[in-house]
Amino acid sequence: MTISLSDLTALCKRRGFIYQSSEIYDGINGFWDYGPLGVELKNNVRRHWWDTIVRSRQDVVGMDATIIMHSRIWEASGHADHFTDPMVDCKECKRRFRADTLAGDKCPECGGELTEARQFNLMFKTFVGASEDSSSVAYLRPETAQAIFAQFKNVTSTSRVKLPFGIAQVGKSFRNEINPRNFTFRSREFDQMELEFFVRPEETGKWYEYWRDARFQWYVDIGVRQENLRLRDHEKHELAHYAAACVDIEYNFPFGWAELEGVADRGTFDLDQHIKHSGKDLSFFDDESQEKLVPAVIESSAGLDRTVLTLLADAYEVEKLEDGTERNLLRFHPHIAPVQVAVFPLIKKLREPSVKLEADLRRWRFVTYYDEKGAIGRRYRRQDEAGTPYCVTIDFDTLEDNAVTVRDRDSMKQDRVSIDNLRGYLEERLF
Ligand code: GAP
Repeated sequence: MTISLSDLTALCKRRGFIYQSSEIYDGINGFWDYGPLGVELKNNVRRHWWDTIVRSRQDVVGMDATIIMHSRIWEASGHADHFTDPMVDCKECKRRFRADTLAGDKCPECGGELTEARQFNLMFKTFVGASEDSSSVAYLRPETAQAIFAQFKNVTSTSRVKLPFGIAQVGKSFRNEINPRNFTFRSREFDQMELEFFVRPEETGKWYEYWRDARFQWYVDIGVRQENLRLRDHEKHELAHYAAACVDIEYNFPFGWAELEGVADRGTFDLDQHIKHSGKDLSFFDDESQEKLVPAVIESSAGLDRTVLTLLADAYEVEKLEDGTERNLLRFHPHIAPVQVAVFPLIKKLREPSVKLEADLRRWRFVTYYDEKGAIGRRYRRQDEAGTPYCVTIDFDTLEDNAVTVRDRDSMKQDRVSIDNLRGYLEERLF
């Protein structure tokens, strides 16, 4: 079943996944904070991406750049001139809209007359240092990708890479979106996970297809239902100023199909631009062909926050039980679930052996949660809604038989497992 966006927003707040930023001051539009469960989920997704893209491959290296860079980077990349959305204001109610999302020429809120469209640059501007003049203007990066191109020479000369190879980065990006909306989907501050994969220019077709398929599969591997994912090729008029081809990986969100990630053939555009603007030689010596060339690039640009939103929407389920009641659950894949194992004493008296078992589980590198409050059934329901794959209960028999009850989130099946075998039992299912 699909969850409405307002129910998802309420669940995220209630369970400590995502809150509105600055909520006690009535919030700030387009900014979101992650709570205790949310930050675990987000970190797991980030780590899973890094493991897949960087650590498990021989041909990709990572980097981590600053958010504020020299403003000439954005002149070279084209963002200073082209990273704009057309904006209109309503003359009556003063609301502001993106002109390209409006169906008619009357205000969608009050029917009032709209101004002519003006181009609005989405980069956040700031000043570096004590003076606020034009020479100290800087921008918060609107994508992480440009730092990879700007540091291309340093990375390639210090890491012995050979074509084809990639440079990857995860980090914050900022866009002063005219209409932030759909919960975290369109925010003003968000994290991107980007890979720039450098190839010989004649090999772009092959690698474009490779990354399109590999990136689609990644979402399936972290538990997103395949029927809720699709690929959508960009039409010529949709292509960004730098791209020769682009395909979006889209998810069927509660508000419709929308972009999760773009895989683009950026050709040699970015390196050529930085060569032109910096006057530096950013060509690369290809060992195999023994020639110097400017490599082309295939980019995979994913949104970390959009992936988290996808996982929450996709994992949510309201299940009708045989006794006529319902339970809410989040069916997270065990590799990304924020809590892996919850530990409960059947009653508070059994606190001591339960706390000890939880400490052992932590030592064995499981992410755990201890709960002794309320009826056991209520505790199971709370963990179902947090997406915890396993709950371990210590009861009076545990003191006799050294075994515990392990309850599976999805099937609700319960197994009696000896504490001696518990580590192996959980490792098999969670790692
Ligand atoms: N370097 C290419 C680039 O930045 P993009 O399509 O503008 O391409 C890539 O952004 C991804 O970043 C998107 O697919 C989306 O997941 C994420 N993203 C972009 N704008 C966002 C926003 N306002 N809020 C949340 N995520 C965003």
